[in-house]
Amino acid sequence: MKHPLSHRIRPLNTHRKHVGLSLLLLKEAHSTNSLLLDDHELLSQKGLVVLADRQTAGRGRKNRTWESGSNRHLFASAVLHPVLPQRLFPAITLLAGLSVFRALSALDIEGLSIKWPNDVLIQGKKVCGILCESKKVGNTLFMVLGIGLNIEGDASQFSCDLRDKVTTIHHETGKAVSRDILLDQILSELDMLITNAYDGKTASLFAEWERCSSSLGRKVRFEHEGMVMQGSISGLASSGTLLVKRDNAEVTEVLSGEIIYL
Ligand code: BTN
Repeated sequence: MKHPLSHRIRPLNTHRKHVGLSLLLLKEAHSTNSLLLDDHELLSQKGLVVLADRQTAGRGRKNRTWESGSNRHLFASAVLHPVLPQRLFPAITLLAGLSVFRALSALDIEGLSIKWPNDVLIQGKKVCGILCESKKVGNTLFMVLGIGLNIEGDASQFSCDLRDKVTTIHHETGKAVSRDILLDQILSELDMLITNAYDGKTASLFAEWERCSSSLGRKVRFEHEGMVMQGSISGLASSGTLLVKRDNAEVTEVLSGEIIYL
Protein backbone atom coordinates (compact mmCIF):
# COMPACT_ATOMS: atom_id res chain seq x y z
CA MET A 1 0.00 0.00 0.00
CA LYS A 2 1.24 3.51 -0.80
CA HIS A 3 2.24 5.74 2.06
CA PRO A 4 -0.57 8.25 2.73
CA LEU A 5 1.84 11.18 2.43
CA SER A 6 3.82 9.94 -0.59
CA HIS A 7 1.84 12.07 -3.09
CA ARG A 8 2.95 15.15 -1.17
CA ILE A 9 6.68 14.46 -1.44
CA ARG A 10 8.26 16.47 -4.22
CA PRO A 11 11.79 16.57 -5.58
CA LEU A 12 13.85 19.42 -4.18
CA ASN A 13 17.38 19.28 -5.51
CA THR A 14 18.39 15.98 -6.99
CA HIS A 15 21.99 17.14 -7.53
CA ARG A 16 22.61 16.92 -3.81
CA LYS A 17 24.33 13.78 -2.58
CA HIS A 18 23.20 13.27 1.00
CA VAL A 19 20.58 15.65 2.26
CA GLY A 20 17.71 17.74 0.90
CA LEU A 21 16.89 15.69 -2.20
CA SER A 22 13.11 15.76 -1.66
CA LEU A 23 10.63 17.70 0.46
CA LEU A 24 7.46 16.93 2.36
CA LEU A 25 5.73 20.20 3.27
CA LEU A 26 3.06 19.99 5.96
CA LYS A 27 0.78 22.65 7.44
CA GLU A 28 1.23 21.08 10.85
CA ALA A 29 3.25 18.35 12.53
CA HIS A 30 3.52 17.44 16.18
CA SER A 31 7.29 17.32 15.73
CA THR A 32 9.03 16.97 12.38
CA ASN A 33 11.78 14.92 14.09
CA SER A 34 9.28 12.51 15.67
CA LEU A 35 7.33 12.22 12.43
CA LEU A 36 10.42 10.87 10.67
CA LEU A 37 11.69 8.75 13.55
CA ASP A 38 8.30 7.05 14.01
CA ASP A 39 7.73 6.27 10.35
CA HIS A 40 10.11 3.77 8.85
CA GLU A 41 8.91 4.41 5.31
CA LEU A 42 9.62 8.13 5.50
CA LEU A 43 12.86 7.48 7.35
CA SER A 44 14.01 5.25 4.50
CA GLN A 45 13.65 7.95 1.85
CA LYS A 46 17.15 9.08 1.04
CA GLY A 47 17.63 12.81 1.54
CA LEU A 48 14.02 13.55 2.56
CA VAL A 49 13.30 16.78 4.43
CA VAL A 50 10.07 17.42 6.31
CA LEU A 51 9.12 21.07 6.69
CA ALA A 52 6.13 22.11 8.81
CA ASP A 53 4.44 25.53 9.01
CA ARG A 54 3.87 24.86 12.68
CA GLN A 55 4.54 22.21 15.28
CA THR A 56 2.23 21.26 18.13
CA ALA A 57 4.82 19.37 20.19
CA GLY A 58 8.21 20.60 19.03
CA ARG A 59 11.10 19.06 20.93
CA GLY A 60 14.45 20.53 21.91
CA ARG A 61 17.62 19.04 23.37
CA LYS A 62 17.58 17.64 26.90
CA ASN A 63 13.83 16.85 26.71
CA ARG A 64 12.94 20.50 26.49
CA THR A 65 10.04 21.73 24.42
CA TRP A 66 10.65 23.92 21.38
CA GLU A 67 8.45 26.94 20.80
CA SER A 68 6.14 26.50 17.82
CA GLY A 69 4.32 29.09 15.80
CA SER A 70 2.46 29.60 12.60
CA ASN A 71 4.41 30.44 9.44
CA ARG A 72 6.81 32.51 11.45
CA HIS A 73 9.78 30.23 11.80
CA LEU A 74 11.55 27.33 10.22
CA PHE A 75 10.75 23.88 11.59
CA ALA A 76 12.42 21.21 9.50
CA SER A 77 13.99 17.78 9.84
CA ALA A 78 16.31 16.08 7.41
CA VAL A 79 16.98 12.38 7.22
CA LEU A 80 20.50 11.20 6.61
CA HIS A 81 20.50 7.81 5.00
CA PRO A 82 21.69 5.20 4.38
CA VAL A 83 24.51 3.66 6.38
CA LEU A 84 26.17 6.79 7.55
CA PRO A 85 29.50 5.84 9.13
CA GLN A 86 29.02 6.16 12.86
CA ARG A 87 32.44 7.77 13.26
CA LEU A 88 31.02 10.81 11.45
CA PHE A 89 28.10 11.33 13.81
CA PRO A 90 29.81 13.85 16.15
CA ALA A 91 31.17 15.69 13.11
CA ILE A 92 27.75 15.90 11.47
CA THR A 93 26.23 17.33 14.63
CA LEU A 94 28.77 20.16 14.44
CA LEU A 95 28.47 20.58 10.67
CA ALA A 96 24.70 21.06 10.99
CA GLY A 97 25.39 24.21 13.05
CA LEU A 98 28.05 25.31 10.60
CA SER A 99 25.62 24.98 7.68
CA VAL A 100 23.17 27.37 9.40
CA PHE A 101 26.05 29.72 10.27
CA ARG A 102 27.17 29.81 6.63
CA ALA A 103 23.63 30.39 5.31
CA LEU A 104 23.06 33.26 7.78
CA SER A 105 26.48 34.77 7.02
CA ALA A 106 25.31 35.26 3.45
CA LEU A 107 22.65 37.64 4.86
CA ASP A 108 25.41 39.83 6.33
CA ILE A 109 24.20 39.32 9.87
CA GLU A 110 26.56 40.85 12.41
CA GLY A 111 27.50 39.11 15.65
CA LEU A 112 26.91 35.56 14.44
CA SER A 113 28.52 32.71 16.36
CA ILE A 114 28.10 29.01 17.06
CA LYS A 115 27.80 27.76 20.61
CA TRP A 116 28.89 24.17 21.09
CA PRO A 117 27.63 21.86 19.86
CA ASN A 118 25.39 23.54 17.30
CA ASP A 119 23.34 26.45 18.62
CA VAL A 120 23.61 29.48 16.38
CA LEU A 121 23.60 32.83 18.16
CA ILE A 122 23.22 36.44 17.04
CA GLN A 123 24.82 38.93 19.44
CA GLY A 124 24.95 36.12 22.03
CA LYS A 125 21.24 35.21 21.74
CA LYS A 126 20.01 31.92 20.34
CA VAL A 127 18.40 32.12 16.92
CA CYS A 128 18.70 28.45 15.93
CA GLY A 129 18.72 25.12 17.72
CA ILE A 130 19.44 21.71 16.24
CA LEU A 131 18.28 18.34 17.54
CA CYS A 132 20.23 15.35 16.17
CA GLU A 133 18.66 11.99 16.86
CA SER A 134 19.33 8.51 15.53
CA LYS A 135 17.37 5.32 15.20
CA LYS A 136 18.47 1.81 14.36
CA VAL A 137 16.17 -0.14 12.08
CA GLY A 138 17.56 -3.63 11.41
CA ASN A 139 21.23 -3.05 10.81
CA THR A 140 20.84 0.46 9.52
CA LEU A 141 21.39 3.49 11.66
CA PHE A 142 19.39 6.51 10.51
CA MET A 143 20.12 10.02 11.64
CA VAL A 144 17.57 12.81 11.78
CA LEU A 145 18.68 16.44 12.00
CA GLY A 146 15.96 18.78 13.24
CA ILE A 147 16.47 22.49 12.69
CA GLY A 148 14.48 25.19 14.47
CA LEU A 149 15.27 28.70 13.25
CA ASN A 150 13.50 31.81 14.56
CA ILE A 151 12.69 34.08 11.64
CA GLU A 152 9.92 36.57 12.35
CA GLY A 153 8.75 38.75 15.23
CA ASP A 154 10.79 39.36 18.35
CA ALA A 155 11.51 37.68 21.66
CA SER A 156 8.12 38.68 23.15
CA GLN A 157 6.53 35.69 21.41
CA PHE A 158 8.62 33.30 23.53
CA SER A 159 7.97 32.25 27.11
CA CYS A 160 9.18 34.65 29.85
CA ASP A 161 12.14 32.47 30.87
CA LEU A 162 13.51 32.54 27.30
CA ARG A 163 12.98 36.17 26.39
CA ASP A 164 16.43 37.47 27.24
CA LYS A 165 18.15 34.40 25.76
CA VAL A 166 16.59 34.10 22.29
CA THR A 167 16.12 36.27 19.25
CA THR A 168 14.84 36.22 15.66
CA ILE A 169 16.43 37.13 12.35
CA HIS A 170 13.91 39.90 11.77
CA HIS A 171 14.50 41.45 15.18
CA GLU A 172 18.28 41.49 14.71
CA THR A 173 18.43 42.62 11.10
CA GLY A 174 15.11 44.25 10.23
CA LYS A 175 15.15 42.01 7.16
CA ALA A 176 12.24 39.88 5.97
CA VAL A 177 13.84 36.64 4.85
CA SER A 178 12.17 33.79 3.05
CA ARG A 179 11.96 30.61 5.10
CA ASP A 180 12.06 28.44 2.00
CA ILE A 181 15.08 30.14 0.44
CA LEU A 182 16.91 29.97 3.75
CA LEU A 183 16.12 26.27 4.13
CA ASP A 184 17.39 25.64 0.62
CA GLN A 185 20.66 27.44 1.40
CA ILE A 186 21.11 25.55 4.66
CA LEU A 187 20.54 22.22 2.90
CA SER A 188 23.01 23.07 0.13
CA GLU A 189 25.64 24.04 2.69
CA LEU A 190 24.96 20.93 4.75
CA ASP A 191 25.16 18.66 1.72
CA MET A 192 28.52 20.21 0.78
CA LEU A 193 29.85 19.94 4.33
CA ILE A 194 28.80 16.29 4.66
CA THR A 195 30.38 15.50 1.29
CA ASN A 196 33.62 17.08 2.53
CA ALA A 197 33.42 15.12 5.78
CA TYR A 198 33.00 11.87 3.84
CA ASP A 199 36.07 12.87 1.83
CA GLY A 200 38.12 13.06 5.02
CA LYS A 201 38.28 16.85 5.33
CA THR A 202 36.99 17.09 8.89
CA ALA A 203 40.19 18.78 10.19
CA SER A 204 39.68 21.87 8.01
CA LEU A 205 35.93 21.88 8.71
CA PHE A 206 36.60 21.78 12.45
CA ALA A 207 39.07 24.65 12.06
CA GLU A 208 36.29 26.64 10.35
CA TRP A 209 33.88 25.66 13.14
CA GLU A 210 36.40 26.92 15.73
CA ARG A 211 36.67 30.28 13.96
CA CYS A 212 32.89 30.61 13.70
CA SER A 213 32.29 29.63 17.30
CA SER A 214 34.29 32.60 18.61
CA SER A 215 34.62 30.59 21.81
CA LEU A 216 38.29 29.58 22.00
CA GLY A 217 39.64 30.64 25.39
CA ARG A 218 36.15 31.34 26.70
CA LYS A 219 35.44 30.39 30.32
CA VAL A 220 32.66 27.84 30.67
CA ARG A 221 30.86 25.67 33.18
CA PHE A 222 29.96 22.14 32.05
CA GLU A 223 28.95 18.75 33.34
CA HIS A 224 31.28 15.78 33.08
CA GLU A 225 30.71 12.31 34.55
CA GLY A 226 28.04 13.71 36.86
CA MET A 227 30.21 16.56 38.15
CA VAL A 228 29.98 20.26 37.41
CA MET A 229 33.34 21.66 36.29
CA GLN A 230 34.82 24.90 35.03
CA GLY A 231 37.50 25.66 32.51
CA SER A 232 38.24 27.43 29.25
CA ILE A 233 37.58 26.11 25.75
CA SER A 234 40.73 24.99 23.91
CA GLY A 235 39.04 23.75 20.72
CA LEU A 236 37.79 20.58 19.11
CA ALA A 237 39.46 17.16 19.26
CA SER A 238 39.93 15.29 15.96
CA SER A 239 36.75 13.33 16.73
CA GLY A 240 34.70 16.50 17.19
CA THR A 241 34.41 16.46 20.97
CA LEU A 242 34.98 19.74 22.81
CA LEU A 243 38.26 20.18 24.65
CA VAL A 244 38.07 22.21 27.82
CA LYS A 245 41.18 23.13 29.81
CA ARG A 246 40.28 22.96 33.46
CA ASP A 247 41.54 25.37 36.10
CA ASN A 248 44.01 22.66 37.23
CA ALA A 249 45.39 22.56 33.61
CA GLU A 250 43.93 19.10 32.86
CA VAL A 251 42.12 18.88 29.53
CA THR A 252 38.65 17.27 29.59
CA GLU A 253 36.83 16.02 26.48
CA VAL A 254 33.18 17.04 26.64
CA LEU A 255 31.07 14.60 24.64
CA SER A 256 27.56 15.84 25.18
CA GLY A 257 25.43 18.04 27.38
CA GLU A 258 25.53 21.76 27.59
CA ILE A 259 28.15 24.36 28.25
CA ILE A 260 27.37 27.61 30.00
CA TYR A 261 29.43 30.65 29.14
CA LEU A 262 30.70 32.40 32.28
C1 BTN B 1 17.53 22.76 20.83
O1 BTN B 1 17.08 22.43 21.94
O2 BTN B 1 18.31 23.69 20.72
C2 BTN B 1 17.13 21.99 19.60
C3 BTN B 1 15.84 22.49 19.02
C4 BTN B 1 15.42 21.76 17.76
C5 BTN B 1 14.05 22.19 17.28
C6 BTN B 1 13.71 21.59 15.95
S1 BTN B 1 12.26 22.31 15.23
C7 BTN B 1 12.23 21.06 14.01
C8 BTN B 1 12.61 19.76 14.70
N1 BTN B 1 11.44 19.12 15.26
C9 BTN B 1 11.48 19.09 16.60
O3 BTN B 1 10.61 18.61 17.33
N2 BTN B 1 12.62 19.65 17.03
C10 BTN B 1 13.46 20.09 15.93
